[in-house]
Amino acid sequence: MTDETKHAAQARALLDSEEGFRLLIESVREYAIFMLDSGGYVASWNAGAERIKGYRAHEIIGRHFSTFYAAEDLAAAKPARHLEIAREQGRVEDEGWRLRKDGGRFWANVVITALRDAQGNIRGFAKLTRDLTDQRAREEAEGRAALASEASRLKDDFLAIVSHELRTPLNVIQGQATRLRAGNLSHEDQERAWASLHRNLQLQTRIIEDLLDVSRIVSGKLALRRERVDVLSLVKEAVDEVQTAAAAKDVTVTKEYEPTDARVMGDPLRLRQIVANLLSNAVKFTPSGGRVAVACRRVNDEILLQVSDTGVGIASELLGTLFERFTQGDSSVRRESGGLGLGLAIARELTTRHGGSIEAISGGKGQGATFAMRLPIAAES
Ligand SMILES: Nc1ncnc2c1ncn2[C@@H]1O[C@H](COP(=O)(O)OP(=O)(O)OP(=O)(O)O)[C@@H](O)[C@H]1O
Ligand SMILES: [Mg+2]
Repeated sequence: MTDETKHAAQARALLDSEEGFRLLIESVREYAIFMLDSGGYVASWNAGAERIKGYRAHEIIGRHFSTFYAAEDLAAAKPARHLEIAREQGRVEDEGWRLRKDGGRFWANVVITALRDAQGNIRGFAKLTRDLTDQRAREEAEGRAALASEASRLKDDFLAIVSHELRTPLNVIQGQATRLRAGNLSHEDQERAWASLHRNLQLQTRIIEDLLDVSRIVSGKLALRRERVDVLSLVKEAVDEVQTAAAAKDVTVTKEYEPTDARVMGDPLRLRQIVANLLSNAVKFTPSGGRVAVACRRVNDEILLQVSDTGVGIASELLGTLFERFTQGDSSVRRESGGLGLGLAIARELTTRHGGSIEAISGGKGQGATFAMRLPIAAES
């Protein structure tokens, strides 16, 4: 017999013997491997079980395995349920907190397997437990780090966009102010410079107002007036105001108003802000030659405002997040059209605060878009 075959034969004999098998299981330290009798009482114990759970074999053998479960799991009858499932389905796997002897918790992966004899009767259960506390802590730390770095990236992006958006009108304002100060402009050029200065001041103001609104919303400090508001006249005014911008880019605005005495309880300036937001988006995202249709009417107990356009439309994956802060469509459109992606977030918050709702409908890119806002009609006073 060569040395090799001698070793192989010895090894086989060891594994064939019950002692070999017992030694294998008893000495594993990485896993708790032990047996329960058919009633769930601990019947054997290995080195890993001692290491993970803290009991010596003589302290735990004969005790019920529910000892390892935390109070909330006991209250939910989890131990009995686990044995039940193992009995019915052959095995059960669970991940959760378990108790050590000293009462400390560890995050465990547990597999309970039913042990049946040749006749199919349950003889007991094999229980295998891994301590995943460190792994879980590591994963949680990684998750937190990933979230933090994503948040910090978003902040960086946001700062870049805000600075750019504020810089753009400021450049124009500076340029026009310099020209006006030089004083050698024709009357016509002077008028144009003033108009452009004014437009860009308004734009700058709006961006800062939006930022302030978002910060008020986030900190819960957005206060609303409550008075009876004639939404239809406010829509008419807002439409008049957007006409110039629409005409400048050759976008036609059509109107369909159904007269109504209905009033909405709320803040007139804020309601107007919502409407202005929807209108400015419609004009902004509709190329030259397109149309924007505004319809306002009463439907049952609500005022319905619809702003539809024949513009760039909204991709279906954007429809779900459109009303979230800082959400904008693809970056090429954003670069062209500017904005911070705040308008709709503010509009939704304001609408909700008025007890209303707002939704976006679009067949997809290039298909135009419709925004519908509903506001509850106030009771007659
Ligand atoms: N009428 C519309 N047609 C197509 N896309 C639209 C329309 N209205 C809004 N969107 C899309 O929704 C995004 C979010 O709109 P929102 O009004 O919140 O931001 P914004 O107009 O980009 O910037 P801001 O309103 O802060 O100036 C837009 O960037 C655009 O991609
Ligand atoms: Mg907008």
